[in-house]
Amino acid sequence: MPDQIAVKPIAGALGAEIEGADLSADLSNQAFDAIHRALLDHHVIFFRDQHSLTPEAHKAFGRRFGSLNVHPYVSGMDGHPEILEIIKEPDEQINFGGGWHSDMSYIEKPALGSILHAIEVPEYGGDTLFANQMAAYDALSDGMKAMLDGLTAIHSASREYSSRGQSAQARQSMDTQTTDEAPEYAHPVVRTHPETGRKGLYVNPAFTLRFKDMSKRESRPLLAFLFDHCRDERFTCRFRWSDGAVAFWDNRCVWHYALNDYQGQRRHMRRVTVNGDRPV
Ligand SMILES: [Fe+2]
Repeated sequence: MPDQIAVKPIAGALGAEIEGADLSADLSNQAFDAIHRALLDHHVIFFRDQHSLTPEAHKAFGRRFGSLNVHPYVSGMDGHPEILEIIKEPDEQINFGGGWHSDMSYIEKPALGSILHAIEVPEYGGDTLFANQMAAYDALSDGMKAMLDGLTAIHSASREYSSRGQSAQARQSMDTQTTDEAPEYAHPVVRTHPETGRKGLYVNPAFTLRFKDMSKRESRPLLAFLFDHCRDERFTCRFRWSDGAVAFWDNRCVWHYALNDYQGQRRHMRRVTVNGDRPV
């Protein structure tokens, strides 16, 4: 590890702040490797004071990890379709991402990770919570693990991005399209991380509708248990934003939740989303 980069965990379950990295600069392979390793070890990593991270540099950093996603329902920034501008104005009520979820689990190859850059944050509030889904899996009994290992779940944007969905409504400052006929994709309930080989739970309350080959009614009790279990406090960490901060989470094994506790204040973030692979 280059000696100028330091990795400092912020909680027992997941999350680490990375010191000594300027994401706007051309990262050496050694620095990139250290950051990549920290992401795999801590699942969500944070950088402070990245004030000179331009949209171009933000995208270039994301491209070190994979190709970039153009969001199917939310228009990107002018001239940068790969960048989502996540803005909540003081007079708006509903925020974007204000429930536990894994980004884009509703597509065939969900996001590897999301890189969120704080442009303007409220004086207080607007923290983001994260939950480690590999720790959530590890904490289950052997019997429950064995049962879940054989299950597949159906994911879709149909609820969140329908005309009544929360993601679609958080759009006064964001150009969001609604869909009432989003496609459905089947993903394993227990996902093996493609880089570390560790198992984690891969269902979420925003986008998982039911288990494959089961009705919604049949799926509801077990999904309700999992949704409650997966956000247990012992699996979480919480990040307090500052202007210029960056969070990069591994979407393959982390849930997140954008708190909406800053009514009357403005919050402006930019997100680059790195494409991932089909969950196995
Ligand atoms: Fe999100």
